[in-house]
Amino acid sequence: MNTISVETPSASYTIECGRGAISRAGSLVASLAPASGIYFLSSPPVWKHCGPLLLRSFRGNIAGKSKRVAAANPVLFRDGEQFKTMRTVETLCRALVRAGADRQALLVAVGGGVVGDVAGFAAASYLRGVRVVHIPTTLVAQVDSSIGGKTGVNLPEGKNLAGAFHQPALVLVDPDLLRSLPDRQFRSGLYEVIKYGVLGDRGLFDFLENRMTQILARDRASLNWIIPRCISAKAAIVSGDEREAGARESLNLGHTFGHALESLTRYRRFLHGEAVGWGMVAAARLAVEATRLSSADARRIERLIYAAGPLPAIPAFPASRWLAAMRSDKKTRAGRLRFILPRKIGEVSAVDGVSEKLVGRVIGNVTRDAARRREGQR
Ligand code: GLY
Repeated sequence: MNTISVETPSASYTIECGRGAISRAGSLVASLAPASGIYFLSSPPVWKHCGPLLLRSFRGNIAGKSKRVAAANPVLFRDGEQFKTMRTVETLCRALVRAGADRQALLVAVGGGVVGDVAGFAAASYLRGVRVVHIPTTLVAQVDSSIGGKTGVNLPEGKNLAGAFHQPALVLVDPDLLRSLPDRQFRSGLYEVIKYGVLGDRGLFDFLENRMTQILARDRASLNWIIPRCISAKAAIVSGDEREAGARESLNLGHTFGHALESLTRYRRFLHGEAVGWGMVAAARLAVEATRLSSADARRIERLIYAAGPLPAIPAFPASRWLAAMRSDKKTRAGRLRFILPRKIGEVSAVDGVSEKLVGRVIGNVTRDAARRREGQR
């Protein structure tokens, strides 16, 4: 088991990562300060898969330490990106009231990125804040969204526009949970893994280039190497910049374009990682146009993204709608678009005030190429 620490001004906690973490969940949670009750938040399919194992582990360890494990009635909600809304948060908070959760309650969020973001936001706001443990079950959630305390929901106007920073009390990552993940979900996580390579880890990028076939086959040794490496990178970045005043911004590589793509398609067409995959293609091309990145490095980045699998085609939207969607992104400052752009593989920087004409041209190119790739795959 790897223990990776996050130390931020607001909280310190560990991420326990390794095979069997889920069956040790009860004893690991029992090592936290006692809670008045433990409340599981999850989605129906995830709970069906993981619930029985988790319950066994908790019943053996928590009995006596916490007044109750409210496990018999986990709070379940649908976990598509389109359900990541204020309404779902309200539903969860109301369910917690009905279940009698008080300020000493401990929430355990079991699921992918949507479950973690929504349950995390519920934890941040319920009774003005209760503790939450994350048990991420998808690759995106294991390497990214469960770590660092960003919680929140989407608005029709844009992705993650309402939320709070609320660090978890503990994160438990069991790579074996990925074995049953649908292929598309797994690939969606790989785009976020590639992101870590592009933004700061050349060694990881090379590894992904050399071993994509094994990784797509979910080779255990490869995943056991990749996952803690990404988690350590994220833990270090978040520990140095909890509130995204500087270095944490680099994690938004591919997200200006990606978030716009998700909101333009009403959160229904792309998994988050897929939108980030296209977003990194756009960022690499924009960086070449802005003479910041060599075409050779841009080609390597694109090739690796395409090697992780087919991405859904990008519908055609007028440039004005793209630009409006990007302007409502959190990263926009004083109406000026802000992008994280690669300088070379393993290094990125934030760039303000990129010409909208250039952005429009790159979007047009990426959209056309996406359609061509789709045709080629038929
Ligand atoms: N997913 C980007 C961040 O946590 O900062």
